Amino acid sequence: MQHIPVLVDPMLEYLAPAKRVIDGTLGAGGHTKALLGAGVDEVLGIDCDPAALELARTTLAPYGGRVHIAHNSYVNMRDEAARLGWGSVDGILLDLGMSSMQVNTPERGFAFMHDGSLDMRFNPQSNQRTAAEIVNTYPADELADLFYKYGEERNSRRIARHIVEGRPYTTTRQLAAVIERLVPRHKRDKIHPATRVFQALRIAVNDELDAVESVLPTAIDLLRPGGKLAVVSFHSLEDRIVKQIFKHHAMDCVCPPEAPVCVCDHHASVRLVTRKPIVADADEIDRNPRSRSAKLRIVEKLS
Ligand SMILES: C[S@@+](CC[C@H](N)C(=O)[O-])C[C@H]1O[C@@H](n2cnc3c(N)ncnc32)[C@H](O)[C@@H]1O
Repeated sequence: MQHIPVLVDPMLEYLAPAKRVIDGTLGAGGHTKALLGAGVDEVLGIDCDPAALELARTTLAPYGGRVHIAHNSYVNMRDEAARLGWGSVDGILLDLGMSSMQVNTPERGFAFMHDGSLDMRFNPQSNQRTAAEIVNTYPADELADLFYKYGEERNSRRIARHIVEGRPYTTTRQLAAVIERLVPRHKRDKIHPATRVFQALRIAVNDELDAVESVLPTAIDLLRPGGKLAVVSFHSLEDRIVKQIFKHHAMDCVCPPEAPVCVCDHHASVRLVTRKPIVADADEIDRNPRSRSAKLRIVEKLS
């Protein structure tokens, strides 16, 4: 299934038109295509997944030299911008998480509904550990912590114990089946019982939360005064990080409330454009159910 980009109109409202924009999560190039169509002169598109870049190259071929594509982690966006001689940019977009192509390619191992190898690396060429390595080698208590911390899974201990008893696993269905047996699905449940465990494994494999924490200060630093950073997140763990880092950078003082005078010498580097996140309307959710959990937050760089 083709990936449908989310919240395109609000994203364009703040990032276009412009001279130079970085799309740190290029995917199949849907957002970048919209940016180029809305009058952005040049886009640097970065993705760590080589398969996504192949698709983006095809989608964006008509735009020729206005698009620069880089196979890298968005964490390294400063280096990629420097390669183009870009010291600062007008806008940066991060559309976090995984794409529909990744979920719908069984051999990538992201989906519990398809059978595929338990991989889950966004960049299969990297030497990061795979989901199989984690479930087959971590002690039960570490697995439980991981499911709780990254999946907010309430049955984390019980699930981890059963997973350890059923080792080894090589495929997504083998792992999902253990969870399905343990946590039977009730009609009223909105999500499949393996959803949280799969989310936790994906976050751990790709070190996703650390990547978000590390890229946001870099991205803010790369913006020219008046430039905007737009971040779309798909779950509360990511959104919390985005919200807190944006808030921290928007404050003029970060001293503890009990401090009698300010000693932090911290100055706001951004203005919060969105106090509450922008979410998809009913029409968009109808067209693209994946947009239901999307939250868009935007900051503007101060001079
Ligand atoms: C939701 S998709 C983006 C879809 C894209 N906006 C579009 O319109 O097609 C997220 C993309 O981010 C990529 N990604 C995840 N973590 C990354 C990282 N640390 N560095 C670069 N790309 C990353 C994934 O490989 C995936 O292609």
